[in-house]
Amino acid sequence: MPMLELSDIDAFYGQSQALFGMSLSVQAGQVVSLMGRNGMGKTTTIRTIMGLIQPRAGSLSFQQTSLIGLAPFRIAQLGLGLVPEGRQIFPNLTVRENLVATARQRQGPTRRRGEFWTLARVYALFPRLEERQGSMGDQLSGGEQQMLAIGRALMTNPELLLLDEATEGLAPLIRTEIWSCLAGLKGVGQAILVIDKNVEALTAICDRHFIVEKGHLVWSGNSSELRANPDVQHQYLGV
Ligand SMILES: Nc1ncnc2c1ncn2[C@@H]1O[C@H](COP(=O)(O)OP(=O)(O)OP(=O)(O)O)[C@@H](O)[C@H]1O
Ligand SMILES: [Mg+2]
Repeated sequence: MPMLELSDIDAFYGQSQALFGMSLSVQAGQVVSLMGRNGMGKTTTIRTIMGLIQPRAGSLSFQQTSLIGLAPFRIAQLGLGLVPEGRQIFPNLTVRENLVATARQRQGPTRRRGEFWTLARVYALFPRLEERQGSMGDQLSGGEQQMLAIGRALMTNPELLLLDEATEGLAPLIRTEIWSCLAGLKGVGQAILVIDKNVEALTAICDRHFIVEKGHLVWSGNSSELRANPDVQHQYLGV
């Protein structure tokens, strides 16, 4: 049984349909990508998973629990931690306050005592955040805000971490840092669903890929299948 499963999801903004029978799944411990060009439905898929958009058709479940009709806070409590597009950290809270505001120690089925994310562990992962722990969210650089958004999601101790363009607009060095952070998380069994434009980095880290085009799932496969398929990369990802 997959940890997260979306099946035949239709989703709309008002009258305008954005997802057409979208399907995707993540198994426990997997790192999975959702790729596609601008405006194809990646963020809409994430919003649907998080309960910010209610699908009009299809099924959506997380660890055998249907997410249909659940409020976003309930879905977060089930163990889904989102790093949203555009970071959306709290500008008027300090770094430390941002990290503890939504923190939660969940005793999930895959988590043993002593494995929780704490302030100390997040600071060890991103020492820059500790240096800036008293600074307000809106006084941080783009890279620091991104680290804070990731740290904040980890502090909820998610069973599944979702990242929507977490490396967008960052300097190459900070991007590299975030990719190695994700590789480290994968190493300890963290399940991750990641949206990013960097096909090479995704191919290196992900177990499986899903490609969306105009709200339709058009391709899925593993990294060697994607590498062996330059036509798919060209047609749907523009690389
Ligand atoms: N709030 C909204 N109201 C109406 N239409 C929207 C809204 N948000 C997105 N859309 C439309 O839904 C479609 C999918 O958008 P979505 O944000 O999911 O794309 P995306 O794949 O995340 O793109 P990007 O790579 O640019 O972030 C687009 O056609 C977009 O214009
Ligand atoms: Mg998006």
